[in-house]
Amino acid sequence: MSLTTQFFFNPYPFREQFPALHQKIDGRPVLFLDGPGGTQVPERVIKAMNGYWLKGSSNQGGPFLTSQQTDETVAAARQAIQTLYNARSPEEIVFGQNMTSLTFALSRALARTWQPGDEIIVTRLDHDANISPWLMAAEDSGVTVRWLDFRPEDCTLRLDQLPDLLNERTRLVAFTLASNAVGTITDVAPIVRLAHQVGALVYLDAVHYTPHGLVDVQAWDCDFLVSSVYKYFGPHTGALYGKYEHLDRLTAYKVRPSSNQPPGKWETGTQSFESLAGVAAAVDYLGSLGKPEKNPRQRIIRAMERIKQYETEISERFIKGAASIPGLRLYGITDIECLEQRTPTFALTLEGYTPAELAVRLGEQGIFVWDGHYYAIAVMERLGVLEQGGLLRIGFVHYNTMDEVDRVLTALYTLAQK
Ligand SMILES: Cc1ncc(COP(=O)(O)O)c(C=O)c1O
Repeated sequence: MSLTTQFFFNPYPFREQFPALHQKIDGRPVLFLDGPGGTQVPERVIKAMNGYWLKGSSNQGGPFLTSQQTDETVAAARQAIQTLYNARSPEEIVFGQNMTSLTFALSRALARTWQPGDEIIVTRLDHDANISPWLMAAEDSGVTVRWLDFRPEDCTLRLDQLPDLLNERTRLVAFTLASNAVGTITDVAPIVRLAHQVGALVYLDAVHYTPHGLVDVQAWDCDFLVSSVYKYFGPHTGALYGKYEHLDRLTAYKVRPSSNQPPGKWETGTQSFESLAGVAAAVDYLGSLGKPEKNPRQRIIRAMERIKQYETEISERFIKGAASIPGLRLYGITDIECLEQRTPTFALTLEGYTPAELAVRLGEQGIFVWDGHYYAIAVMERLGVLEQGGLLRIGFVHYNTMDEVDRVLTALYTLAQK
């Protein structure tokens, strides 16, 4: 029997480390089900960020102590994300304000290499941050955009349609590893294989996926991958992986005196160093879920196995409970046999309430959820729910407990009776 199947995940010792999770409203504990919009942070992240300022802040490259400490902070963050992504070297990791800004920067750089008549592929399952930058870059350079659809019944991508969309003019395939709206996880390997067969590059949005599953840029052989650390227990900073050859070859939009070498040439202006201190601490926290493994990457692998197993149990409990609530309609994968293909992120409607009303009613009870489109505009359009206010989104992460699953189910059940 593998360690994975023997392991019982207890979220309580981990919850203890998150000060925000201890809040109460009117004596009732707050229930954070807004992870897909941004997670809470453990104490070690707060301490690391404070620690950066307490030691003295400085810009990089100066001949004095605080500047050298800043250089060390940046190097530690780069190494942490290298480990998290399994990149070949820290030079393949670029930091930026957030995923959206990094993607706009990369899209402009890539578009310089495209010719009118070239093609790119985006998907309807994506957050708009992995669609609009490509639509705009395509418009600027006379490139045709092709769309990969998903099945509205279970919100899985139509991979069967991909071969027909690809051809020798395809320059890029951009897709999400997991939908921030309906939780579907994408099967990466066949998409990368087909894209590379025609010479297209692959750009992966890992923002929603990273707190829920193992990232491995080498195994996937993707050309780029980007995530945002605030979705996995860290600060508001984006982290982009690019194969070194691409980061080196492409022209970055940057100021003249800055480095021509990756990753510096992509990191425009001054970084948020206090955030980078928090980035290393966030990855360290994730690794702590993988004890007693010693090797940093092995820790991450073990941690993500445990998270995945526990979150699958959460999904099963939520889906089974939701099925007994009258008038509740769940979007995305609901087949209990296929739960490894989704994150515990659920979009739903409840008869008698708009998504906004439902979010308010739950918010009044200290249950924090989102309503609307959460920038997954294409998903909402395809499901035909954009005009009616989108969907309610309930998103769990590993620090949520089974009691919390039951609490939100009970709240929904009670609202359904009214
Ligand atoms: C799947 C996905 N992609 C991209 C983004 C945009 O990330 P950022 O806020 O870092 O620009 C989000 C944010 O919610 C997201 O969920």
